[in-house]
Amino acid sequence: MTFVVTDNCIKCKYTDCVEVCPVDCFYEGPNFLVIHPDECIDCALCEPECPAVAIYSEDEIPDGMENFIQLNVELAEIWPNITEKKESLPDAEEWDGKPNKIELLER
Ligand code: SF4
Ligand code: F3S
Repeated sequence: MTFVVTDNCIKCKYTDCVEVCPVDCFYEGPNFLVIHPDECIDCALCEPECPAVAIYSEDEIPDGMENFIQLNVELAEIWPNITEKKESLPDAEEWDGKPNKIELLER
């Protein structure tokens, strides 16, 4: 079992999640973070820390967001590790809650 970062992280990237992860299994792209499924120990600490409510357990992914399971797998292999909190993206508050940001994902 793993936790998964989903759509509402895109263009927000608050990074509060990174600070609590005991195994440093977050990976960072230009406007999105992902969790490496083979490294996540399923501790659930990150889920309540995300201001954008973008993190879910793999078995509790909201309907229509199942594609993010594979996206986390794929991008965690190519993006660099992030272990410290940083500034959120400049327009994070504006984008928080907007639907279907997947189209704006930068790789
Ligand atoms: Fe890290 Fe725990 Fe979140 Fe997995 S569930 S990404 S181990 S904080
Ligand atoms: Fe993204 Fe939430 Fe972490 S917005 S960077 S999953 S705190």
